[in-house]
Amino acid sequence: MAEPAHPEDLPYQVGRTYADYLALGHEHVETPVGRVVRGDDTPRVYIANHLQTLTAETPEEALQALEVLEAELGHLNHRLVVTDPRTSPAVGAVLANAGHSPEATLQMVLPAGHPLSNAPRVGADIRPVTSDGDWVSLGRLMAEDHANRPEATRIDAVTSAQMLATKRGKAPDVQFFIARCDGEDAAYFSSWPGSCGLAMVENLATREVYRRRGLAGALVHQCVADARARAGGEPAVLIGADPDDWPKGYYARLGFRPTCLTWGWLRRTPR
Ligand SMILES: CC(C)(COP(=O)(O)OP(=O)(O)OC[C@H]1O[C@@H](n2cnc3c(N)ncnc32)[C@H](O)[C@@H]1OP(=O)(O)O)[C@@H](O)C(=O)NCCC(=O)NCCS
Repeated sequence: MAEPAHPEDLPYQVGRTYADYLALGHEHVETPVGRVVRGDDTPRVYIANHLQTLTAETPEEALQALEVLEAELGHLNHRLVVTDPRTSPAVGAVLANAGHSPEATLQMVLPAGHPLSNAPRVGADIRPVTSDGDWVSLGRLMAEDHANRPEATRIDAVTSAQMLATKRGKAPDVQFFIARCDGEDAAYFSSWPGSCGLAMVENLATREVYRRRGLAGALVHQCVADARARAGGEPAVLIGADPDDWPKGYYARLGFRPTCLTWGWLRRTPR
């Protein structure tokens, strides 16, 4: 009989997959305290410049990790540490004490072998992003989504362009798709086969005028199928959601199960 899975296996796998995804397309340096991710040409993108996969077990070791962060990324206007179920609780306590504010991502997993529950509502016109023109269009869609967000999470045009640059030509295993509607590019999403047996889909948005026509649903089906096909087989698939927003309920209706939280601990340090 096979060994029963340890209850923490899936959250740990989620933590590793998410951290590996965040490191894609950037320089990353493995240090004794954790992995430093650096995007020197995209300094405005918080998540392109952070510390993750921390090894600290004690508050003293967590403080050492913050010293490494300072030494490696202290020239930036922010300090970001990403923690996940693999991280010692001491780290969160030290980060909070050092003035870092936590923001949670609700990580949800579609189990291996499970199809999505709903059939897509429309036969949408979806294409992979491959050509220069596709990337330009994706950049426009992203910039519009970023500019239209509520004030607290709005992203300016320069930062939005840098966010696109973190993926274009740098993370070839991440495949974006664009959905068209009424002859216009209207929505996007992306797929990734994963690094340790868990595939991932990420970065979903539909232009406001094209919402509630089934485009996001069609893209979720496309990207889950693509991530699984490129991973080989029917692995579990990870999607991240804002714990305070409604899409988490939609993902749950599709069959994604709430699995764990990951955290981005941000401290702004404008000079
Ligand atoms: C989330 C988003 C991509 C949905 O796009 P969309 O193309 O309008 O979605 P669809 O028409 O395919 O609808 C998908 C599901 O969401 C539901 N839905 C759509 N808009 C909704 C809303 N404002 N409130 C609640 N449910 C909503 C639909 O009813 C549908 O569920 P069902 O199939 O069970 O009926 C879009 O609202 C968006 O771009 N939001 C801003 C970015 C964002 O929040 N991205 C998700 C990050 S986790």
